[in-house]
Parts: sequence; C-alpha cells; structure tokens
Amino acid sequence: MSIKENYTITVLGCGVMGTAVVSAILNAEFSPYPSKIICCTSREESALNLKKKLNHEIIEVSYGSEANSKAAKKADIVILACKPYMYETVLSQAPINNGSLLISLLAGVTTKELQKYSVNVAKVMTNTPAQYGCGTAMVSFSDPEAEEKYGDLVMKLINPVGLAMKIPEKNMDAATALVGSGPAFCLLMMESLIDGGVRMGIPFAVAKDAAAKVMEGTAKMVLETGDHPAALKSKVCTPGGTTIGGLLKLEDAGVRGSIARAVEEAANISASFAKK
Ligand SMILES: NC(=O)c1ccc[n+]([C@@H]2O[C@H](COP(=O)([O-])OP(=O)(O)OC[C@H]3O[C@@H](n4cnc5c(N)ncnc54)[C@H](OP(=O)(O)O)[C@@H]3O)[C@@H](O)[C@H]2O)c1
Ligand SMILES: *[C@@H]1O[C@H](CO)[C@@H](O)[C@H](O)[C@H]1NC(C)=O
Ligand SMILES: *[C@@H]1O[C@H](CO)[C@@H](O)[C@H](O)[C@H]1NC(C)=O
Repeated sequence: MSIKENYTITVLGCGVMGTAVVSAILNAEFSPYPSKIICCTSREESALNLKKKLNHEIIEVSYGSEANSKAAKKADIVILACKPYMYETVLSQAPINNGSLLISLLAGVTTKELQKYSVNVAKVMTNTPAQYGCGTAMVSFSDPEAEEKYGDLVMKLINPVGLAMKIPEKNMDAATALVGSGPAFCLLMMESLIDGGVRMGIPFAVAKDAAAKVMEGTAKMVLETGDHPAALKSKVCTPGGTTIGGLLKLEDAGVRGSIARAVEEAANISASFAKK
C-alpha cells in the first residue's frame, strides 16, 4: 500500500453518485481511513445542502473552480464524479498532484483517456442503489502498477456502496449494461409481478411491497447460498405444480432470451458511445 495514514480525498462533482460513495465511506470502518473528504460542487447551494446531509467531522465542502483547484492540491486521492461531458474542463482547472490516485465514477470515459490527468487511475461503474448501501460496483485499473499500488485501498473505499468486484476494463461496457441498466430491467420484472397480483385481485400497494420483497429475498438466497439460480429454481418447482406451470409460460414467451439480449443491446450502445 503506497498511501500514508491521514490521507485526504477530494470529490470533484459531489452529486447523486459522489454523495452515495461518500455516505457509504462515512458509514464504513476500514484502515487506513481518510482523515478528510473535501466535497466539491459547482453551486454554493449544493455545497450547503451537502454540509447538512453529510454532517461529519471529516467532511469539508466547497464550490466553484478556484475551490476545486485548492481541493485537488490537498488530495491524495481524487474521486471524479461530475457529468462525463465536463470532466476535461474540471480536471484542467483542478490538476491532480503527480502520483495521486484518480478514481473515476464516469460512465463511458476510459482509464486511458484519464491517464492524461493522472498516472494511476481506477474506473468504477456503479448504480443508483448505491444510495441505499445496496449498490453494485465494477472496478478496473489503468495498468497492473496502479492496481498493485492502490488495488486494496480502492476496493476498501468502494465496497461500502454494497458489493465491489474487480473486472478487466474490456468488460466495462457489459458491466455498464448489467450493473448500470440492470436496476431498470429488474424494475420492469417487478412491475410485471405487481400487474399479475393486481389482475388476480391483490390491492396495488400490497402487491408492490410483496413484489419488491420477493425480488430482494430471491437475490439474498443466491448471494447467501452461492448456488446457481437454476438449482434454487428447481427446488421451488413441485412436480405438476403452480410454479413449473408459470415458468413454462415465461419460456414460451422467450423471456429468458429477451432479458439476456437487453443486456447485450445496452452493452452495444455503451460501446457505440465510446467510439464517438
Ligand atoms: N446517476 C446514476 O445512476 C449513475 C450511474 C452510474 C454512473 N454515473 C456517473 O456518475 C457521474 C455523476 O452522475 P450524477 O448522477 O451523480 O450527477 P449529478 O447528480 O448531476 O452530480 C454532478 C455534480 O457535479 C457538480 N459539478 C458540476 N460542475 C462542476 C464543476 N465545474 N466543478 C465541480 N463540481 C461540479 C454538480 O454540482 P451542482 O449541484 O452545484 O451543480 C453536482 O454536484 C456521471 O459521470 C455518470 O456517468 C451515474
Ligand atoms: C511525476 O513523478 C515521477 C516520479 O515520481 C517523475 O518521473 C515524473 O517526471 C513526474 N511528472 C511530472 C509531470 O512532474
Ligand atoms: C451487438 O453487437 C454485435 C456486434 O456488432 C451484434 O452481432 C449483435 O447482434 C448486437 N446485439 C444486439 C442485441 O443488437
């Protein structure tokens, strides 16, 4: 580990995603722990709101490009979480210290592009459930040296959003589809379960909570047992019963292929953005 104790993290662009990561860090315990986190926004109003929301002794907030630049100078680690289109402006105005680590949350910006601003880059793809500590994060590094130097620390900093896993950068478009778009695909499935419940007479509010809990519980079974979903599914199917009847309807409609192709399409679109 090449980071000193009492290090400082600067978050350039602390909006929805930046705040999710910082809140997760504040709720976690690990070592070495940052002694200061400076959260930078563009507007004073956002900075004041952050101060209230993240109310903690290690948090500082600031706004505007001059403050960004000061905060970047103090940083051992910069977390980049502004909108993707503005990153070049933000990093030009707030240069990163030589040797400091850059952790990017930006969709569609490669570590190669970011190495113009810092030698050591980690790219993180996470999702909106990170706001509730149930996010998924895929992490890749600009090169083996960056991973060697900072890998453990990056995983400690990002894992608190929920679950962080390392992948090679060539899988990032697929990760953007599975992790980034995945919640929307799950929500569509959840809506269908609710519709079915309502169709058969369950009040909407009850069907909604039931469907959400069914998805949460099912996910928990997979995460806790480590079993293949097919094995768990097979255990739920009584011969001649209700579940196998419903499953065959789904297979007839090609639901399995459709969902897998949705991930493929989203990954293709992510890759096409990168080519522009
Ligand atoms: N939202 C998602 O579901 C999601 C999922 C995966 C990845 N991402 C990635 O996360 C990144 C951030 O997305 P987000 O949804 O969190 O955006 P957001 O909520 O709009 O946050 C952007 C932040 O950047 C600040 N900002 C704007 N200009 C700035 C400047 N010149 N200097 C410093 N800060 C500046 C904004 O401050 P003000 O509030 O003062 O304007 C705001 O705090 C994006 O690159 C996106 O690709 C997002
Ligand atoms: C950054 O530091 C390395 C050695 O630590 C040095 O070789 C390199 O020239 C420095 N780069 C800049 C831009 O100062
Ligand atoms: C994704 O792109 C590949 C390669 O261009 C193509 O063969 C495939 O059909 C595309 N997938 C979808 C779902 O459109």
